[in-house]
Amino acid sequence: MIEKIFIKTFGCQMNEYDSNRIFDSIKKIGFQRTEKYEEASCYLLNTCHIRDKAKEKVYHEIGRVKKIFRYKKKPLVIIVGCVAQAENEEMLKREPYIDLVIGPQSYHKINDTILNHIKKKKKIEITEFDPISKFKYLSKIKNNAGKVSSFLTIQEGCDKFCHFCVVPYTRGPEYSRPFNQVLDEAKYLVDNGAKEIILLGQNVNAYNDENNKLSDLILELEKLNGLERVRYTTSHPKDMTEDLINIYKYSKKLMPLVHLPVQSGSNKILELMNRKHTIDKYIKIFNKFKEINSKIEFSSDFIIGYPGEDEKDFKDTINLINRIDFINSYSFIFSPRPGTVAADLKLVDKKISIKRLEKVQNLLFENQMKMNKSLENKHLNVLVENLTEDRTQVFGRTEYMTSVILDGNKSDIGKIVQVKIKQSNRSTLFGEKINNSNQKVA
Ligand code: SAM
Ligand code: SF4
Ligand code: F3S
Repeated sequence: MIEKIFIKTFGCQMNEYDSNRIFDSIKKIGFQRTEKYEEASCYLLNTCHIRDKAKEKVYHEIGRVKKIFRYKKKPLVIIVGCVAQAENEEMLKREPYIDLVIGPQSYHKINDTILNHIKKKKKIEITEFDPISKFKYLSKIKNNAGKVSSFLTIQEGCDKFCHFCVVPYTRGPEYSRPFNQVLDEAKYLVDNGAKEIILLGQNVNAYNDENNKLSDLILELEKLNGLERVRYTTSHPKDMTEDLINIYKYSKKLMPLVHLPVQSGSNKILELMNRKHTIDKYIKIFNKFKEINSKIEFSSDFIIGYPGEDEKDFKDTINLINRIDFINSYSFIFSPRPGTVAADLKLVDKKISIKRLEKVQNLLFENQMKMNKSLENKHLNVLVENLTEDRTQVFGRTEYMTSVILDGNKSDIGKIVQVKIKQSNRSTLFGEKINNSNQKVA
């Protein structure tokens, strides 16, 4: 059997990792990947449920697929990811065009489910939480991402239950993959060209497998010849432990950007959100990092207009942003999610929330512009990841994850090159290569 599959991915980096792993699996039963809708005989949509309209976005996308295939044979339509988990068999009832619905902790069953469907033409929904079997299964199939910068999921799920968030319901309880299973996958990635590994988890710094913590894992990864850079995301302030902070003292491969979502600058709001940390604790963590290395920078996530947020709370958020000078941060207006504690709380007036978001984003963007401008004429280490889309230049990232575009060719891919920055805008730096460099920790 040879089938061509088109895979579309919404949502976070864990979904990107999952989409690639799903493909690694279904390749075994004859699937080839295509980037062209029209030539696909199977359409897989990996969905995200984090904010408003997530569900509608999925049905809208299926509407588009229906149109494309109006005069052709109907493709096999598979919905996976967090909307699949949250909506489960409802999806099959609402949209008969969907054939299979598979939740994030059931991907080990995808091959059998597809084969079963092809044989019996029955619609199937699987949404059990079984991460142990999933990762056991996936660890037997090679991770063939083949990218210079590769994602590697080490932890899934969440037990923290922030009142605004669907993740504990869509990904299930916190689970850490076995230490050796992760190391084996990392070795394979490096043997196949990965120079950077980004360790992923909804609470990545809660990683703990038989007392092996994230810090132990990073130190073990550092020993891999050929691996140049290590990152991890997303962390929770509550799990930012001394052992993890301290490895920044001697790590040679850990990058100096810490993504640590704070959500709000107000203790009152943090408590209403059930965040389990205070601003004081957050600033203490920030100061500890800065004492170890003043070049370490922070990025964050913010939720604006959480129910109960008044002018004073909002000012606290602005003050925190001014205090920390975050780079590359994300900010969104609170979106009530069905099934969460905050789902039915009284909303902040929409116009006020929009104004506050604008203010926060202007401030965050200003910081980013300032930071990027300050890098002009500086020499930076850039890991070249790929050719640009038009294939005329190359694209890479600084130690702080900022995108850099420079002249170069295929032979630069996978190398850390020193780049003189000539120009910048908010999201991208433009420069020219000076020579290949030996990376130093910032
Ligand atoms: N585990 C991470 C943490 O605790 O910070 C965050 C994971 S979540 C997938 C990514 C981000 O989505 C959150 O940091 C939050 O800012 C945002 N988010 C989650 N639920 C949201 C909601 N209901 N409305 C708006 N933003 C939300
Ligand atoms: Fe969601 Fe992160 Fe809170 Fe867990 S810790 S509930 S993933 S925001
Ligand atoms: Fe979205 Fe699920 Fe990730 S809700 S952000 S795809 S964990």
